Amino acid sequence: MSFSHLHFSRGIQPILSIKYMQNEIYILYGSQTGNAEEISKEIYQLLGEKGFHCKHSSLNKTLLTDGFSFTTERSYRAVIIVCSTTGNGDAPESANHFWRKIKNRALPKHLFDGIQYAVLGLGDTNYDKFCQMGKGLDRRFEELGGKRFIDLHCADEATGLEETVNEFIDKVMKFFMK
Ligand SMILES: Cc1cc2nc3c(=O)[nH]c(=O)nc-3n(C[C@H](O)[C@H](O)[C@H](O)COP(=O)(O)O)c2cc1C
Repeated sequence: MSFSHLHFSRGIQPILSIKYMQNEIYILYGSQTGNAEEISKEIYQLLGEKGFHCKHSSLNKTLLTDGFSFTTERSYRAVIIVCSTTGNGDAPESANHFWRKIKNRALPKHLFDGIQYAVLGLGDTNYDKFCQMGKGLDRRFEELGGKRFIDLHCADEATGLEETVNEFIDKVMKFFMK
């Protein structure tokens, strides 16, 4: 067992509990112009400061080789996704390969069994397909056996992303710190 993830910040921290170690977390983003990437990085930093072992990457990058790294690295059982929608309800460039892959109806129904997940979608209600990607990812993770630990949150650029983003981050922190 490696303790390399023990992370000390702001003075003395208690030794991480077993629960912390079980909650190793993937924070994944799909972003076209940087908002989702920046928000996901903030979540990564906040959880890191609390001593959680996290990985941060784009959705496409988790398709290393021909698998999903968050499903093959069995110690990572929680996935947080922040994904915008672009075009006309389309996946951003850093999520398009991932989305194409998980849409495939031939995938095993239990692919994401044992994975806890939460999705924050970014969008704009001026577009017809508001937060299409966030909605699609949230639904597909469930169909593939994932267990949602926070309801889908859809932040609307038309009224300001901040309130919904902060609400989502609060829920994430409460979930892992409880
Ligand atoms: C060209 C373009 C197309 C967009 N299409 C959609 C859309 O179809 N549905 C939606 O909800 N939001 C849409 N948006 C809004 C973006 O999702 C929103 O601005 C988001 O904050 C961008 O996040 P990002 O910087 O991580 O890509 C679009 C924005 C742009 C610039």
